[in-house]
Amino acid sequence: EVIETEKFRPQFHFTPEANWMNDPNGMVYYDGEYHLFYQYYPDSTVWGPMHWGHAVSNDLVHWDHLPIALYPDSLGYIFSGSAVIDWQNTTGFGSKDNPPMVAIYTYHNMDGERAGRNNYQYQALAYSLDKGRTWTKYKNNPVLPNPGIKDFRDPKVIWHEESEKWIMILAAGDIAKIYSSKDLKSWSFESDFGKGIGAHGGVWECPDLFPIQVKGTKDKKWIMLVSINPGGPNGGSATQYFVGDFDGKTFTPEKNESDWLDYGKDNYAGVTWSDIPKEDGRKLFIGWMSNWIYAQTVPTEKWRSAMTLPREIQLVKEDDQYKLTTFPVKEFEDSKVLKMQINKMLFSGKSDINNIDLDLSSCELNFVFKPQKGSLNGHTTAFGLLLKNDADEELKIGYNMLSKQVFIDRTKINTQFTDSNYLSEDVAQYSIGEEIKMKIIIDASSVEVFVDEGKLAMTNIVFPESPFSELSLFSSLGSVELESAMFFNVE
Ligand code: FRU
Repeated sequence: EVIETEKFRPQFHFTPEANWMNDPNGMVYYDGEYHLFYQYYPDSTVWGPMHWGHAVSNDLVHWDHLPIALYPDSLGYIFSGSAVIDWQNTTGFGSKDNPPMVAIYTYHNMDGERAGRNNYQYQALAYSLDKGRTWTKYKNNPVLPNPGIKDFRDPKVIWHEESEKWIMILAAGDIAKIYSSKDLKSWSFESDFGKGIGAHGGVWECPDLFPIQVKGTKDKKWIMLVSINPGGPNGGSATQYFVGDFDGKTFTPEKNESDWLDYGKDNYAGVTWSDIPKEDGRKLFIGWMSNWIYAQTVPTEKWRSAMTLPREIQLVKEDDQYKLTTFPVKEFEDSKVLKMQINKMLFSGKSDINNIDLDLSSCELNFVFKPQKGSLNGHTTAFGLLLKNDADEELKIGYNMLSKQVFIDRTKINTQFTDSNYLSEDVAQYSIGEEIKMKIIIDASSVEVFVDEGKLAMTNIVFPESPFSELSLFSSLGSVELESAMFFNVE
């Protein structure tokens, strides 16, 4: 059975049915459902008056579209924010038997902006008593007025158990501010974070603050995520993170430099799900799979933008250094069907793989590569894979031994989309040992690369004129052993 699909339409990544989407918002789990709200403009494929679109899933992979949750009103557009379950009914919006789902979001007031005032972004509440299906805006909005800071937005709220308070982190210019509250309605300033710390190539947006266990230990650390636009490692927007401690008032980082959650160009404004049950305990993340430098001009017609695959974030400690890993959620495994397997194959130059059974437009490709030393031609310089289509376009993904970089080269795919930021080879510094593991997930118009169980992630959108049909491996100069490969289709 052949199902007609729209050109570039992802098959297992979340997209709006039509029109413009940016940041994921208000991700919260409640009563068997993962909620995903998102920045949405239902009247056009470019950014405009923001709403919160809405979808739900019970496995993080298959999503049901629901009606728009929040519409702009006289206070402004509905910008990014978060949602929590108010289990103890601290707001009084519901009851302990039917705890309210509360959205905490930014109003962006256009009149204020046009009038040249700098207090046009402020924080507000809305709540739902029916599993997010219908929403009531709080009558005394805003709950956190603007203190006179032009960029003052994207509140992320968590329940801080130790102090039995709600904690809000939000972006203020190019730093983050932390507030606390007993009832989500009245907020007290606690601290500023970020002056002289981390990357400051642009404005800070969509911060997140959450505790996490160090993998394999009982130790707990706190993570702060901060999206930044521009100033990302390969240009434009990207998300940095800090590992540290939080005492209910102040976040203290381990070091003053931040790290990048994803080195690709297309993973922005992502934050974690709220209210994941304790028994589960995972930190689940989703990001907007685009970049502000070209998001509004990418060559899709009916809709614009997709989300990344939902990912689990873990914290590992190696050589006394903390590092976040990101990896597709385990639920994704159920959508995969094994199509091909290769064991121990030496290759050099260009080596074609017979992929007759594999649909390369919707697949997961797993490789373990072992670059060989001391061969006649000396060491290999770069190796990896090439994907081609019948329009003679080529996507190249691999590792360069000389520069010690993982790379995604999309300069030969959809060269009609001439944005120089799109036609790029994006790179990430990474040291390898004997071998390197690469998991590459392709879905119509995106590629997500996870290296060594998620120690490095690179996410890029690509717009092939026709689906990929050929797969080959390449190695320049020396040879590489393909230890093993497993290819799946995603169904
Ligand atoms: C990030 C962002 C947020 C803002 C929203 C507006 O992409 O700029 O800071 O709330 O998008 O749509």
